[in-house]
Amino acid sequence: MLSIKAHKSAFIDIINSMCGIFGFVSKNNIKAVPIILDGLKRLEYRGYDSAGIAATTVRGVFSRKKSGRILELEKILNKNVESSSAIGHTRWATHGAPTDKNSHPHSSCDKKIYLAHNGIIENFRDLKDKLIRNNHKFSSDTDTEVVAHLVEDFMNDKATSFEEAVRLSLKSIVGTYAFTIIYADHPGKIIVARNSSPLLIGLGDEIKFVASDASAILPHTRNVVYLEDGEFAILTKNDFRIANLDRKAIERSHEKIEWSPDAVKKNNFPHFMLKEIYEEPEAVENAIRGRLVIRDGLAKLGGLETVEKDLRNINRLIITACGTAYLAGQIGEYMIEESGGISAEIEYASELRYKKNSLNAKTALLAISQSGETADTLGALKEIKRKGILTLGVVNVIGSSIARETQAGVYNHAGPEIGVASTKAFVSQLTVMALITLFLGRQRGMSLIAGRKIAEELQALPEKMKKVLTRAGDIKKIAKRYHKFNNFLFLGRKYNYPVALEGALKLKEISYIHAEGYGAGEMKHGPIAMISKDFPSIFIAPSDSMYEKTVNNIQEIKARNGPVIAVATEGNKEISKLVDDVIYIPKTIEMLTPILSVMPLHLFAYYVGVFRGHDVDKPRNLAKSVTVE
Ligand code: G6P
Repeated sequence: MLSIKAHKSAFIDIINSMCGIFGFVSKNNIKAVPIILDGLKRLEYRGYDSAGIAATTVRGVFSRKKSGRILELEKILNKNVESSSAIGHTRWATHGAPTDKNSHPHSSCDKKIYLAHNGIIENFRDLKDKLIRNNHKFSSDTDTEVVAHLVEDFMNDKATSFEEAVRLSLKSIVGTYAFTIIYADHPGKIIVARNSSPLLIGLGDEIKFVASDASAILPHTRNVVYLEDGEFAILTKNDFRIANLDRKAIERSHEKIEWSPDAVKKNNFPHFMLKEIYEEPEAVENAIRGRLVIRDGLAKLGGLETVEKDLRNINRLIITACGTAYLAGQIGEYMIEESGGISAEIEYASELRYKKNSLNAKTALLAISQSGETADTLGALKEIKRKGILTLGVVNVIGSSIARETQAGVYNHAGPEIGVASTKAFVSQLTVMALITLFLGRQRGMSLIAGRKIAEELQALPEKMKKVLTRAGDIKKIAKRYHKFNNFLFLGRKYNYPVALEGALKLKEISYIHAEGYGAGEMKHGPIAMISKDFPSIFIAPSDSMYEKTVNNIQEIKARNGPVIAVATEGNKEISKLVDDVIYIPKTIEMLTPILSVMPLHLFAYYVGVFRGHDVDKPRNLAKSVTVE
């Protein structure tokens, strides 16, 4: 999508693991540990089961690894190790338990080759059997370790250089990977390779970096080169060379990342999650900047211009995504159905691939993903694209796999999102869905007046959102009162039904409290059985077309002694007589209400998580970018 060239992957199934990879090559020997630790901490949201480091030194390779958070690794590290090439890894376990021995980097028998890996080596058992027959001794249960031994095995033939051994190893592997590899006898050099797991090179003056994503590189440089699938690169003190696995040299100039280094710092916030909730108004501002022509009631979406004609011809949009992005897509479905003039449907990406969809030339697919790397979404996208369907993306991370794979799309420009639970990306995704609705609607039957109204209301949103944030103190007090309850029901209708699902999802993720989201109308068909004085409900009940019916549902809960918190529209005094607590949001048009109504729910989940003493930025068992299916 946009300026990123179409990306051709030879692989159909994307089953790679997440994990964060970071490394550097420097002109001189420098203190490696603080640089690698800083890079790993910025990537920790990608996985935090274990971490490790390896660095070439004058006395061979220094390596340490440890299960648990990066802080555990930090405790056992000598900060004075000097090196000109070092790699680090933070792991989200797939093959092998999260123990010290399974942590990366892994090494060859002679302890000269060390590598860190993100992905899955599918043929590792065959390779391992062969290597064992060649007397290689393994010290972990991982698929990754075979590759260190494989490189060594090729190098046992003295005529084979380190570079050639890596190339031959990559050609022997079936699977997905991003690799960083160092060799004791070649200090000041890293070889990196990519196949379906993200990897980019950062170009500083004295130092070059490699990382799974830009957030780790930003403090050092904004000039980056993206590696494509099937490519490897050799970084040395003086230069870097990219080639494909058939040795064909590849020329690629660098791109400039627009994100500011401050965007990946917590500034004065105790957690990234809170910082990112406070950035929600800015995320909306950034999503609409330069994209609204209010006078003409139009959305100007440069990324869709190339396919404008194709879009005129479609009459059905399949939206697909995972997690919070899925819920943004579900609200987008309501928006497009109601105002975009075409039929829209949402599907979990993890299910879409397995459905027999009757697709035709009038169908388009829209994939939504903050990271642009979610394996389920990418897999669904590739499957549908193969059928010749127009594919579009709503993606935050520029140059990510989904951004490359889609034919056209809209970037969120929400800036980096570090908190594992998605917040500002969600409101940004909703904003972009509203822009796409306006774009499609105005291609069809939507009137100038209706278009202008949507554009004006979008423009007015950031100020209204800032007003919601002024109520954070009240929301914190409510969270304090309710944080010991062990069950919650979130209820809403129409546009605010997916908001209820998002409120429940966020509470589950951050506080590990059992929470269910339900359509308020459906509640009486089952969940009402659970209601008691110990089972609070949170109603999203703005003054919209659904209000009267939602109030009836509130009455049903109150009649059964269930405590109720309501998110309601400013000026609605009546509701405060009915419920236990109210959080007010400003008025906007119905389709944009979720952007305001979700904010109190994000804050509520955050504060409940904090009151329960959890690490809200890194909830247990979760990872930000889920690149396994
Ligand atoms: C993970 C994250 C969620 C996120 C989902 C989809 O499950 O924990 O917060 O919504 O992935 O991620 P994406 O990057 O595709 O939006």
